[in-house]
Amino acid sequence: MKQSKLLFLILLFFQLSFAQNFELALIPKPQSVKLKNGFFTLDSNSIIIPLSPELNFVSIGLERTPTLSQKKLLYQIAILGKSKKLRKSKNSIFLKTDSTLQHKDEYVLEITKKHILIRGRESGVYYGLVSLMQLIEMHSGAETNVNIPCCKIQDYPSFEWRGMHLDCSRHFFPIDFIKKYIDLLALYKMNVFHWHLTDDQGWRIEIKKYPKLTEIGAWRNGSQQGKYNEQKFDTLSYGGFYTQDEIKQIVNYANNRHITIVPEIEMPGHSLAALASYSNLGCKDTLVQVAKGWGVFDDVYCPTDATFDFLENILSEVMNLFPSKYIHIGGDECPKLRWKKSEFCQQLMKTEGLKDEHELQSYFIRRIEKFVNSKGRQIIGWDEILEGGLAPNAAVMSWRGESGGIEAAKQKHKVVMTPGSHCYFDHYQFKPDSLEPIAIGGFTSVEKVYSYNPIPDTLTENEKKYILGAQGNVWTEYILTPAQVEYMALPRMSALAEVLWLGEKKGIFQDFRLRLIQHFKLLDKLKVNYAKHILN
Ligand code: ACM
Repeated sequence: MKQSKLLFLILLFFQLSFAQNFELALIPKPQSVKLKNGFFTLDSNSIIIPLSPELNFVSIGLERTPTLSQKKLLYQIAILGKSKKLRKSKNSIFLKTDSTLQHKDEYVLEITKKHILIRGRESGVYYGLVSLMQLIEMHSGAETNVNIPCCKIQDYPSFEWRGMHLDCSRHFFPIDFIKKYIDLLALYKMNVFHWHLTDDQGWRIEIKKYPKLTEIGAWRNGSQQGKYNEQKFDTLSYGGFYTQDEIKQIVNYANNRHITIVPEIEMPGHSLAALASYSNLGCKDTLVQVAKGWGVFDDVYCPTDATFDFLENILSEVMNLFPSKYIHIGGDECPKLRWKKSEFCQQLMKTEGLKDEHELQSYFIRRIEKFVNSKGRQIIGWDEILEGGLAPNAAVMSWRGESGGIEAAKQKHKVVMTPGSHCYFDHYQFKPDSLEPIAIGGFTSVEKVYSYNPIPDTLTENEKKYILGAQGNVWTEYILTPAQVEYMALPRMSALAEVLWLGEKKGIFQDFRLRLIQHFKLLDKLKVNYAKHILN
């Protein structure tokens, strides 16, 4: 081969591979993309046509975003009806059920010069529409028509738990923002929203049987200000809660976007807001208040029958609201001081043959698990639930590094990885910290998140199967507003979304970074206050 020809081929290769990255700035990057010649032109006559009746109601779910809904067709599905003409509609997007694809959430998106076809099961078609929406938004400019490159995308997620958490106790976020947060998860094909609804600093979910939880427990007489070691507080009443009607609305909203909400009701620790409302549930008769400051507190639920009745009644209402298979019962950071000093606890330990307070915590969690299992659900808890013995069917969320997750997988329990090192999005994301808004500490850059592999090498092939996936946690001690949640969550969420979607096929950070920079255009349209450090 002549040198010039070789050079031409090399250049062509680089141009094509660059074109792939550049043209199809999808996040998460699909498992397989084949670029083809030409473009499909989306124009004002284009409509979405479901070829299978069960797809009539698949919707992209960004209707509430006015800047995007200009492209009405994406958000309005034409019902096929009987018209044959419609089938032949030019420049249209066809949706088709295909149950033969290997993976549950797999989709195939084919873009030709004449039409677009998305096929898969319902969730797959939904993910295909999300990819298409990203392409349309990336390629749309001032003019009405949008030219999208012809291609064939074959795609499916690598992990089944692609989660984001939000702490609504330390600071409370309105329903409208919860919807926006869910939209952002949907944009990146994440599928679990872990909603942290109770903690020392505020109880945020209406419970019909226990109205004082929201009359008293949802409010505090001041909040900690500034850095932790300054120990400064204001005296303003702060609080709020979600009514059961609002929660039903949110569960439905998430469900339409193929997102499961896993509610968290903390026990036995992090329970001051509940104890302030119902003082008979602690081990000590002193009255406690909803916490104003951050941290871990000695007053926790006492493992009495009254406490178990209370928690079971709450969990019954919670399970009626949230259809999720998993119910998060917290389990983290429960000091044992009150239990050590309680005559009741010491007697209970003797009766139940429990050798220490860790085993008493395990007794607590097992008893709750038995109740949750009796309703056909499973518990998931922070990795402290391993201490004193893991409840028989519990899943573990590993946050103090990966060791809890590794231990749980070895014991054949399901695991979600959320190690502080890579998955705590309340950490600083840029150095020096002094240039950033106050955060809890740590350092987790977008690049570090992108480097994460949720499957530890130390596990055997069989043990690896217990890792469901991973999750980004947004604790809000130092996050006061929706705009600040967005700043901390994005773009770290986008990086984690790609880690979890692509699995072993994940590429180099620089490739992700180039696509992410293009995504900022989309985040701007969605009016998201994302962090821009990667531009530097
Ligand atoms: C946790 O961060 N306390 C789970």
